Amino acid sequence: MNTVGIDAVEIWTGNLRLDLPDTFAPQKGEDPEKYTKGLGLNASSFPDSYEDIVTMAANAAYRLMDRKGLEPEDIGRIDVATESAFDNSKPVSTYVAGCLEQVYGQDFHHANKGERKFACIAGTQSLDDAYNWIKAGRNRGRGALVIATDTALYARGDAGEATQGAGAVAMYITEDPSLVELSTEQGYGSADETDFLKPNQQFPSVDGKRSVQVYLARMREALTDYESVAGDIHPDDIAYVPFHTPFPGMVRKAGLLAYRHVTRDTEIEEELAAEIGRQPRREAFDDEDAYREAVREYMDALKETDRYREWYAETIDPTLTISREVGNWYTGSVHVARASALKHALEDGRDLAGESLYVGSYGSGAQAEIHEETVVEGWEAEIEALNVDAQLADRHDLTWEEYERIHDAHNHDVDSDVEPLTTPEDEFAFDGWGPMGERQYRFVE
Ligand code: CAA
Repeated sequence: MNTVGIDAVEIWTGNLRLDLPDTFAPQKGEDPEKYTKGLGLNASSFPDSYEDIVTMAANAAYRLMDRKGLEPEDIGRIDVATESAFDNSKPVSTYVAGCLEQVYGQDFHHANKGERKFACIAGTQSLDDAYNWIKAGRNRGRGALVIATDTALYARGDAGEATQGAGAVAMYITEDPSLVELSTEQGYGSADETDFLKPNQQFPSVDGKRSVQVYLARMREALTDYESVAGDIHPDDIAYVPFHTPFPGMVRKAGLLAYRHVTRDTEIEEELAAEIGRQPRREAFDDEDAYREAVREYMDALKETDRYREWYAETIDPTLTISREVGNWYTGSVHVARASALKHALEDGRDLAGESLYVGSYGSGAQAEIHEETVVEGWEAEIEALNVDAQLADRHDLTWEEYERIHDAHNHDVDSDVEPLTTPEDEFAFDGWGPMGERQYRFVE
């Protein structure tokens, strides 16, 4: 069987931008550096009042299909991953197909459609579903359209309000892909957790501090599980590690944890030992608290070493460039991190073909997954085609008053009719409600 993976990717950001240090922090009476240095964020993307998870998904998918010269008959499957769905029965993928049918004048009746839910990890799960479908030989030569789309909004005043965002990532999954091949091996860390949930409510209930710990615990399990099937990962084998990125500060913690794990019992641990000692081993301690304290001390020392800082700057930091400007896209965020890393490599003129990405996905509730992706020859052309920089630069900068109105416009409990702040152009836009409460869309030239 041929290799299977991501053939093409497209990113669509919400058309609005909220500046966090300059607009948000002063309103909260907070130091702007909490955002830029602590959370690692400059801005959040927001949807204008005519945008939602369907328009962003359809716009990303249309851009991808148009660029690749794809027709509806080439797509055998449309899977949408989201945690912002507005319908408990009709999947978002049907709305997206309806949008695309308007511009193609052909239907997607032959395509299997679905919607995946497991918080932010659902985008990766949809990728896995597409991979399995093709590997099983059920695809009849067709590819799968996987779209991760979310409006990651929190209730006003919630601590998570600082990490909001909105956007979609569309991916085309095929045999002999042009971007990355996916490994068969996967590692999982999964447990019944209540760190972040939306029990029939639009905005999440979040235990923010705990969610950070749960993310790290599940990621550690996933890494161990991955290595149990694929063998140990050595730092030299890793080009980039795109992690789920609710905010870059979270990835700073995940990166340190991953480095400690992959350097254990290697020559790197020995070389670092002269400076910071060897890693604490559980069996050398009588009680758990003493062991944890020793690990904390080791991690604090490790993150100050030149060796770690260089590894972080090369392997992790490049995955965060786009995220810093858009905030959390939930299901899309790990896929934004991959695109950000590949874009960085392209801009650096780095030859990545044959190199490995280790992709760390996470969804609250909670589950982490690690898999490997191998970059394939010709990957540069796919990344060159992204216009994400132009999209980010073209966003309308929100004033505080506009932000408050736009948040209300997307709040299902507020009856508001908010004039858009931008004008849709060559994109799908919300066009009002149908007789059965369905949302309607049209392509605006
Ligand atoms: N200068 C520099 N750094 C500063 C600073 C300053 N002036 N002020 C604060 N900081 C640092 C803090 O030290 C902290 O960094 P560390 O964690 O490394 O110590 C960071 O900035 C954030 O500050 P606080 O912890 O005080 O921020 P907060 O109380 O407002 O809450 C949060 C942060 C808990 C992450 C909150 O934003 C939140 O609840 N977010 C939503 C939940 C979330 O994203 N969880 C992540 C894991 S779950 C997940 O990944 C799924 C998902 O997508 C939601």
